[in-house]
Order: sequence, then structure tokens, then C-alpha cells
Amino acid sequence: MSELILGKTVSESIYSELRGKIESLKSKGTTPGLAVVLVGNDPASEVYVRMKGKKCEELGMHSVTVTLPDHTTQEELLKKIGELNKDPSIHGFLVQLPLPSHIDEKTIINAIDPRKDVDCFHPVNVGKMLIGEPEFLPATPAGVQQMLVRSGVDTKGKHVVIVGRSNIVGKPMAAMMMQKGGGADSTVTVVHSRTRDLPSVTRLADILIVAMGKANFVTADMVKDGAVVIDVGTNRVDDPDSPKGSKLVGDVDFGAVKEKASAISPVAGGVGPMTICMLMANAVAAAEKAAVSR
Ligand code: GUN
Repeated sequence: MSELILGKTVSESIYSELRGKIESLKSKGTTPGLAVVLVGNDPASEVYVRMKGKKCEELGMHSVTVTLPDHTTQEELLKKIGELNKDPSIHGFLVQLPLPSHIDEKTIINAIDPRKDVDCFHPVNVGKMLIGEPEFLPATPAGVQQMLVRSGVDTKGKHVVIVGRSNIVGKPMAAMMMQKGGGADSTVTVVHSRTRDLPSVTRLADILIVAMGKANFVTADMVKDGAVVIDVGTNRVDDPDSPKGSKLVGDVDFGAVKEKASAISPVAGGVGPMTICMLMANAVAAAEKAAVSR
């Protein structure tokens, strides 16, 4: 039976550090400000945006939620981004994805001032991260890294296998784990849907990070005895036993894999809480930089 790595617990310790930083900024006249822009009414996005605003308020930060109708034009959205880029009370902001299909995501991301790009989606920030000079780190991979570091998992020289090659998780996760320094210094392999004999590679992992977006994709036979397993997946599957008729599961067959892993993150209370936590950390860092350069 393995140790549980809980983002819920790890995020609480990071929040307590952030509270100190926020207090200190406020005492010097800067209240960290985060804005979240939501276009349309995607129900999942509405939930995320509400959670982000609520967390900001809980931490005593300045929180702005901009909700725009589904028929907002790209030009109107660009104008709003221009306003947020200039607004000195907003240190960081993000545009919640996905956007309605008539708006081009890349054009929107490129319009965000990289100094306020707390998602770390702007190509300038992706490049800075890749060369080991990050302005920000993207929230979900940064959250996974903090879970490893704060659970005492040694990553130096370890073989980290990442399952999935998305721009939001797999690719930045690989870049971060191969950097020089603490919480990284790993040997990294990325596997994906086109990898030949994927289980033969995942079985080599000392640390297996799974972000494939397929329910229960990683089974016990794909995991080495004693590996550390981090499950980034959230998949809704049918569950006739639940009142809702469905439940959330990860990309890892938790019940079987936990018997083989030395440590594992569950889904619900695992990586999930880390994403908003690291977003808040980025917003506070942006406010700290803005306060220094004032
Ligand atoms: N949609 C799902 N996750 C994210 C995220 O981390 N940032 C943004 N902007 N949109 C998302």
C-alpha cells in the first residue's frame, strides 16, 4: 500500500506562505490583483472561473471577473485585453479556455502582456521557461512539481516518464523536469498516443506523470514496483451507483496501481487543487515584481 500525495494538503501549505506575501505587499501599498475573463457560458468554465474568484477573495487579493457574452467579437475581446494590460490594479490575468469557435485562441494569448500572463501560455513565457529563465511556470505542471518536492520525492537523476504531450501539461512538464536544479535534474521521456509499445517505457519510470485524458489508461502492469505516480487526469465516466449517474476518475487505475506504487496521487484531492493554487502563486509573484519596478 502506497503513500498518498495530496494536492489538497500541499496547496494548504503554499496558501499559508502566500498569505504572508500578500500581507507584506499590502502593508507596502500593493494589493495583488487577478482578473479572469470568461467568454460565453461553458458550464465547466463557469465553475473554474467562480473557484478562481472565490480563492482570490479568500486570500484578500483584488479579484475581477469579466464575463462577456458568447457573441463577443475577437476585436471586442482584444480591446478588453488591452484594458487589462494597462490596468495597474491588475497584476495578472487570464482568458479562460476554450473560447467560442469564432475567436482565435492564439491571437488572444499573443495579445496578453507577458508580464501579466499568469497562465504562462504566451509564447514568450513558454520560451523563457524552456531556457530555464521563467517569468512564470504553468500552473498544472508547477503544481505537480511542488507535490513532488513537498512530499520529499527526490527527482535528481531519476527517470521521469510523462504520458501525454499537450501544450498545457505534457510539454511544459517535460521542460521543467529536465531543467538544472532542485525539484528537477531528471532524465525525461515523453510518451503519447503514437508511441510504440508504450507500457515498455512507462515500466521504466521512477516517477510516472500521467496526463493523457483517458480514464484508467495506466494499469498496474504498466508501472514499476515502487514508482511514484502522479495522475493529472480528470475524466467523467458513467456510474449507475452515484446519484448523479457519473463520477470523476483519473487516467490511472488507482485501485490496482496503488498496490504497486510507493506513492500515488488520487483523483479528487490530488493534482486538482494545485492548479488554482499555483495560479494564485503566479499572481502574487507578478504583484511582487510590479511592486519592485514601481
Ligand atoms: N481551461 C482549462 N484549464 C485552463 C487554464 O489553466 N487556463 C485557462 N486560461 N483556461 C483553462
